[in-house]
Amino acid sequence: MQDRSVSEYLSFDRVAADYDATRFLPEPVRDAVVEQLLSAAALSPGQWLLDAGTGTGRFALPLARRDVRVLAVDVSVKMMRQLLRKHPPASLCLAQADLRRLPVRTQSVGAVLMAHVLHLIADWRAVLHECRRVLRGGGGLFLLYESGKRFPAREHYLQLAGERGLLRPTIGAPSAEVVLGYVRELGATVELIEHPSLQWRASRSHREVLQEMDKRTYSQMWELPDEAHRELMTQTRRWVREQFGSEDAVISAEAVVKLYAVRFPDPSSHPHES
Ligand SMILES: C[S@@+](CC[C@H](N)C(=O)[O-])C[C@H]1O[C@@H](n2cnc3c(N)ncnc32)[C@H](O)[C@@H]1O
Repeated sequence: MQDRSVSEYLSFDRVAADYDATRFLPEPVRDAVVEQLLSAAALSPGQWLLDAGTGTGRFALPLARRDVRVLAVDVSVKMMRQLLRKHPPASLCLAQADLRRLPVRTQSVGAVLMAHVLHLIADWRAVLHECRRVLRGGGGLFLLYESGKRFPAREHYLQLAGERGLLRPTIGAPSAEVVLGYVRELGATVELIEHPSLQWRASRSHREVLQEMDKRTYSQMWELPDEAHRELMTQTRRWVREQFGSEDAVISAEAVVKLYAVRFPDPSSHPHES
């Protein structure tokens, strides 16, 4: 019998309506991601880019609007409905599927993008093997991570919740480093794509940050009992007022997109996964 832990993943159905409002990325940074990605992917005309775990299409949409043929895959229909409400162009195709078994032919796509997905899937290694299977020779797997935005109200809430053991442990890949270590074990090369346009300063009032926290769109907060969450919000609000005088004070925090280009050895020298 299959171990239950390796059949688990977290669909974002339950937070689809609030997802975009809590994952703000300035348009110039989003455009810069697209620019850097396309430049490194060097897709030939007509080649497909697979956005694995597309969610609401934060990246699939601007890519498709650049006339790239994008196959956007997610397990959550509700997330993809949000994407459809943004009127995607005809160059974007959507498929509901589990990334551990992609409905995609072997060696058929020119590039794969995966942004904030592998920490949600217990068997994340199987997803990486699927990405490797569907990539054409020389095609890149692009792993995107946003970090920073260490707003005090958010940090304080998470610290309190963590101290009380209320946060859900990560079910999937524990960190980018572990993922990169694994692909290197598979023989891949890894390049961090660095560019000043991938860094910015995010500004938010404490009130805005608290409102985002209250929506609980971060998966580590999903299992928090309502009462415990309300208590944490009350304590965090009180702490903000004590420390900063008002919830309206605006905080500016560094933020960065880390984009890694992973290239597996030529598939012709590796037998396919069955
Ligand atoms: C944090 S969201 C990231 C969405 C998008 N890539 C972005 O950066 O905005 C993670 C997405 O992965 C999807 N997901 C989780 N497990 C999955 C699986 N096994 N197969 C397909 N999609 C999955 C979730 O439903 C969710 O939409």
